[in-house]
Amino acid sequence: MTQPAVSHHLSHDISPEFAAAVRAGLCKQPQKELPSKYLYDEVGSALFEVITALPEYGVTRSEERLLAEHASDIVAQLPHDAIVAELGSGSGRKTRRILEALCKKRPTTYSPIEISRTALQLCRRELGDIERISIVGYERDYLAGLAEVSKRRAKDEPLLVLFLGSTIGNFGRLAATRFLRDIRNMLAPGDALLLGTDLEKPVPVLISAYDDPIGVTAAFNLNLLARINRELDGDFPLDAFEHVARFNPDVRSIEMHLRAKRRVSARVRAAKLTVELQEGETIWTESSHKYRAEELHAIADDANFTCSHQWIERDWGFAESLLVAR
Ligand code: AVJ
Repeated sequence: MTQPAVSHHLSHDISPEFAAAVRAGLCKQPQKELPSKYLYDEVGSALFEVITALPEYGVTRSEERLLAEHASDIVAQLPHDAIVAELGSGSGRKTRRILEALCKKRPTTYSPIEISRTALQLCRRELGDIERISIVGYERDYLAGLAEVSKRRAKDEPLLVLFLGSTIGNFGRLAATRFLRDIRNMLAPGDALLLGTDLEKPVPVLISAYDDPIGVTAAFNLNLLARINRELDGDFPLDAFEHVARFNPDVRSIEMHLRAKRRVSARVRAAKLTVELQEGETIWTESSHKYRAEELHAIADDANFTCSHQWIERDWGFAESLLVAR
């Protein structure tokens, strides 16, 4: 018996949403782009986990230190008896401290909201042993998942939303405020949002964090094209692209791009698309905006929250801000 040529690892259901996003992004002029949320398939999520262990990428460890050190103080400031929803749980490792401190006081329902099934599974494995926790995961976009959690809660049950890891940095500044408003609209006065933001730091530090010397971030970025090849029947020549990280001082954001080292013509059959890149042309795949701790007060106000507390880790530069819905 001969094996079929395509193993189950290589065949994928075609996601019409992914196909449409790839089509729209790669047709943009003058700057081609791809939405950063598609970086996180199974391979991308695993590579991101490796990134968090790199000495050059201080973001995750800084936030972990902050949450470990201040967990009981943070929990003391939170609404009492709240159910907890987390936007983009990732592995769940940094959330552990908060959940342990909450569950020590009372049984707590925790709802991670994730588009990555792999991340949901990881997080269940990581946090499932906490005493008196019940985990109800949602494999959804953030706002759709949050709407669901909010709809299902008991009357007068407060909600705590966790948005950690500086994922908000992936939004442009205007979009970030709009997103916070969208969250706020699903909350009741007194509900809270714990928001993690990476702080501004010298450009060379940022560049090595997003262009590490052993190339994990490069692989993470290139995997987006590999994913298009796998899932949308594309034929991007991966060796024709290189990873670029650059700081955009106008918006204080570090941008990841994929740059064509030569002229490239590629087809993405499931998106009914042929795309041409000139030598040196880039596809913009992610932005990571950096914040000043002080500016979060104004951003909170704009979205109808009050920033009631902040905890800051100064070795790397990371802030946790508690935003209370008013
Ligand atoms: C998970 C979105 C916070 O922007 O720092 C890491 C993703 N990209 N290295 C970030 C990322 C490149 C990360 N976030």
